[in-house]
Amino acid sequence: MEWVETSRFERFGMLQVSRVAASIQPSATLAAAARAKQLQASGVRIRDFSLGEPDFPTPEHICEAARQAMVAGKTRYTQASGTPELRAAVASHYRATYGLAVTPDQVLISNGAKHSLHNALSASLNPGDEVIIPTPYWVSYSDLVAMTGAVPVLVPTTMEDGFRLNPQALRAAITPRTKLLLLNAPSNPTGAVYSRAQLEALAKVVLKADLSVISDEIYEQLMFDGREPVCFATLHPDLPARTLTVSGVSKTYAMTGWRIGWTVGPASLIKAMGNVQSQQTSNPCSISQAAAVAAITGDQQCVEMMRNTFQQRRDLVCRLLNAIPGITCPIPDGAFYAFFNITGLFGKTVAGKLITNSVSFCDGALETAHVCLVPGSAFGAEGFARLSFATSPEEIEAGVAQLAEWLRQG
Ligand SMILES: Cc1ncc(COP(=O)(O)O)c(C=O)c1O
Repeated sequence: MEWVETSRFERFGMLQVSRVAASIQPSATLAAAARAKQLQASGVRIRDFSLGEPDFPTPEHICEAARQAMVAGKTRYTQASGTPELRAAVASHYRATYGLAVTPDQVLISNGAKHSLHNALSASLNPGDEVIIPTPYWVSYSDLVAMTGAVPVLVPTTMEDGFRLNPQALRAAITPRTKLLLLNAPSNPTGAVYSRAQLEALAKVVLKADLSVISDEIYEQLMFDGREPVCFATLHPDLPARTLTVSGVSKTYAMTGWRIGWTVGPASLIKAMGNVQSQQTSNPCSISQAAAVAAITGDQQCVEMMRNTFQQRRDLVCRLLNAIPGITCPIPDGAFYAFFNITGLFGKTVAGKLITNSVSFCDGALETAHVCLVPGSAFGAEGFARLSFATSPEEIEAGVAQLAEWLRQG
């Protein structure tokens, strides 16, 4: 046996990283959190605002459903595309919430919304296709697109425009190679939300140019000030045939670790994605699927409680950040991130370090103020930093006070 192994290595040489794998960046948010943990391990108390996950425990009735699933022996492979119960529950959610006619064969359950996005992109893109991504954008989009051999086309939006893509900018970015628009609202990192009219204007351009859409609606239930979520696919009768809607339980039900996301779309494409998934991961965790059924079909008061709490924290964090000279924090309409402008601090020397961009700002904030943020450059938007307010008011008050104190040293 040993002889066989040796001769194989001689034939193929050392294992080398493929071009695709070598081109992929590690997730910037996970990298920031890892640096914070490193400092913490050396005894420094870090206020960590880098990760996008609710700090609430998963509601008890959902955990109980998981325990019952285990006791009932739901511990085996399920259908690769998800259990009939969960696919039916997701289909009902779209019918009840948005009036979108969805049947279970139009739903694919995956290992978190990130996996859903990967499957959606792999099943609908060919090398060389162009994908329009408004920036600032969620860190994983461009790498997920690049993994398919397609080309991410980044289209900037501005703080003044509420970080919303407008129809003119969309139209201007379209080329004969454009295949897809990748939309995300409420947005990570900006919290931007579109009105129905604004989405309809984008839908018109999409239909005229014969594009497809992936609409990442993972923060659909986290809209503030009484705003109602809008599902992009419902905006025109021709949209369901060309739209893949991605969402999941991670953010709505504080279930990031359970890894359940889904895609809703045309049955033929969902079937193709299911085929990919069946060769790739098989089914998502059977116990998590049972828990997700309980989350979607159970009492929704927990969602309202978390949404109200996030809204109070949003108000707190925006008030505190806007009181710091050099920082401008627009008010996010959804999700749980403050994406604030720091260009007023550029050229300033703080505690002996010159702030020139979002990375030097976040480095200084971490090393000196012991506050962990993610630089805007990671989201394709220099001049900003992201603070996740999915944490306690005490932590927010202490962290922003440390930031203010550090900046006063300039
Ligand atoms: C915009 C957006 N889409 C998708 C995801 C992935 O969600 P999941 O944890 O279900 O994979 C995230 C998580 O941070 C996100 O912010």
